[in-house]
Amino acid sequence: MRIDIITIFPKMFAPVLNESILKRAQEKKKVRICLHDLRDYTLDKHRKVDDRPFGGGSGMVMNAEPIFRAVERIKAKGKRQKAKVILLCPQGKKFSQNTAKKLARCSRLILICGHYEGVDERVRQRLVDEEISLGDYILTGGELAAMVLIDACSRFIPGVLGDKNSLNFESFEGNLLEYPQYTRPANFRNMKVPAVLLSGNHKKIEKWRNEQALKITKEKRPDLIKLDKAV
Ligand SMILES: C[S@@+](CC[C@H](N)C(=O)[O-])C[C@H]1O[C@@H](n2cnc3c(N)ncnc32)[C@H](O)[C@@H]1O
Repeated sequence: MRIDIITIFPKMFAPVLNESILKRAQEKKKVRICLHDLRDYTLDKHRKVDDRPFGGGSGMVMNAEPIFRAVERIKAKGKRQKAKVILLCPQGKKFSQNTAKKLARCSRLILICGHYEGVDERVRQRLVDEEISLGDYILTGGELAAMVLIDACSRFIPGVLGDKNSLNFESFEGNLLEYPQYTRPANFRNMKVPAVLLSGNHKKIEKWRNEQALKITKEKRPDLIKLDKAV
């Protein structure tokens, strides 16, 4: 998978992309991430990417021109693979594990990170295939949202995670949260690991984990269970 990121702060990405699983995913060539400084696509000598909003109001709006130029140039680079253009914005569809899974099947993504008061509406109208929001709150820019999206999607690209089974037993799979996990020691400050986990009886362990996952989901996220019934 190739992911192109259009941003005015490309340096924000290095600490996240150059560590841990994302770093290894790139080294193994499972995912290629290309950063584009939006200012490189401007036409004026001040490399301006924003302007005052028509109709007045506070803040600045990101110009359509450099964003269109960036997306068109990036798309032209790998014409054979269709690229999905995603705008990170609070108006978008709320990001979820299912969306991450779906996007991981795309061969190319182009992520647009907004700033200031957001982007000129014509970007949304003509350029963008999908709008994605991280949640009902406002971030200062789309960069953190892009990094979250890349992290969550990359885990679904075959070969990125060492143990592919870890994907099957995680929170949100089957609309349940994950069961409780313990590791050594079996007795920590007199808090004991449930005996069943030390029993070696895999059937019993699986039953206990399923029961716990259901119990925890009912307690913490009953909406997930209702959602499951509605499907
Ligand atoms: C300060 S926000 C602009 C908010 C905009 N004025 C509004 O009310 O919808 C600047 C940029 O941060 C990004 N952003 C902010 N909140 C976000 C969220 N919840 N999910 C994804 N991106 C977000 C978007 O790229 C947005 O263009």
